[in-house]
Amino acid sequence: MVLWEGRFKKGIDSRTNDFNSSIKFDYRMYKEDILGSIAHAKMLGKQDIISKEESDKIVDELNNILNDIEDGKLEIDFNAEDIHMFIETELTKRIGDTGKRLHTARSRNDQVALDIRMYLRKEIVEIKDDLKKLIHVFLDKALNNLDIVMPGYTHLQHAQPITYAHYMMAYVEMFLRDLDRLEDSYRRLNIMPLGSAALASTTYNIDRNFVKQELDFSDVTKNSLDGVSDRDFVLDLAYTLSLMMIHMSRFSEEVILWTSSEFKFIELDDSFSTGSSIMPQKKNPDITELVRGKTGRIIGDLNTLLVMMKGLPLAYNKDMQEDKEAIFDAIDNTKMCINILIPMVDTYKILKDNMLDKAKIGFINATDCADYLVKKGMPFRQAYKIVGSIVSYCIDNNKILETLSLDEYKKFNDNFDKDIYEYIDLKNCVEKRNVIGGPSSKQVKKRIDEVLNILN
Ligand code: ARG
Repeated sequence: MVLWEGRFKKGIDSRTNDFNSSIKFDYRMYKEDILGSIAHAKMLGKQDIISKEESDKIVDELNNILNDIEDGKLEIDFNAEDIHMFIETELTKRIGDTGKRLHTARSRNDQVALDIRMYLRKEIVEIKDDLKKLIHVFLDKALNNLDIVMPGYTHLQHAQPITYAHYMMAYVEMFLRDLDRLEDSYRRLNIMPLGSAALASTTYNIDRNFVKQELDFSDVTKNSLDGVSDRDFVLDLAYTLSLMMIHMSRFSEEVILWTSSEFKFIELDDSFSTGSSIMPQKKNPDITELVRGKTGRIIGDLNTLLVMMKGLPLAYNKDMQEDKEAIFDAIDNTKMCINILIPMVDTYKILKDNMLDKAKIGFINATDCADYLVKKGMPFRQAYKIVGSIVSYCIDNNKILETLSLDEYKKFNDNFDKDIYEYIDLKNCVEKRNVIGGPSSKQVKKRIDEVLNILN
């Protein structure tokens, strides 16, 4: 027996049912579906669209169904078409014809639009909490390494000295923007679509604002066609998650590089790394490789949604049922990635001597050497050229700026004095960059305090 049996002369082929069915993935919205139905039933009673007794009976039984599912007493029937039909069928099984009144002035089109918004609200709150935990781990690592000098790169070539704290705080800034985007996504999806019905709203005297208040939405949708057709909010979240994953993926790529023998900047804790089945010496950064790999998958989910929506005429189309698997996959995998990075980052060791040793090669303080001449009155372009020749001389003679004698310096320019050595000392180079956003320990510490304030 199917829902639309009045119109049809034949029953549904089981293959059609299987192909059409979405309960395998939309069952996870059972709670939102029930809470949405409870608010709807209360509103129908309040507006005298159904009687007060019928409304109370429906509300009570929906609460029982919710408890029974959560206590494991009621199993979800995966032969149902979707979670909405499963709940409604169960209600009618339990309270007979009264249950059939629940769907008055409602369609599954606005029902699913409501459920998915409520479900995503809940997930956004959880993802925000997870992300805040990750930010705290990064802040901790920064706080404990304020003066650990490391090479800063451009083009993956030694560029200028920074600190490990400054590096970690760069990711904190990205994650803070991700948090902001999550809040933004939440704000835009927190609009109540019920009352749009199938597409053209309803002739019943419903009270949409009552339902909005019951379900804690900030507003109601303002066009019934849009109310059932909009999935922008799913895309907003998919994009937000993709970007968050891209940030975690760039960080992961650096962990992969930096645990290699070529860099040796960090060492993973044994419990968050893996070995090889054949090479006894191996210690692999599988976690970060998977984070990097899953980033592609989540960007794929975003693409699925974009392409799924791009040609759909108004209003509801069944294509839109495909939104759930994509966004659920993006949510599940993003959460897994955040929650494994938290302990992995928390437990890895920073090999600060290696960082400093690597910072000493590659003429990372050459800009500072040029700035030294500028401070003595020389135009920057001229100073840049002189230091270029000094670097070339060092390369030919196997020296670094720190080991060049003052006599050698003076051969290039008379302005050099013995204070040059202090000026190009790597720690000093970092501390001198004491502008907002710079790597000096004072600036980075100030920003850490600001972020702690923002988060608390
Ligand atoms: N399972 C459907 C979905 O996820 C619910 C809406 C069905 N509406 C309809 N008219 N077939 O989109």
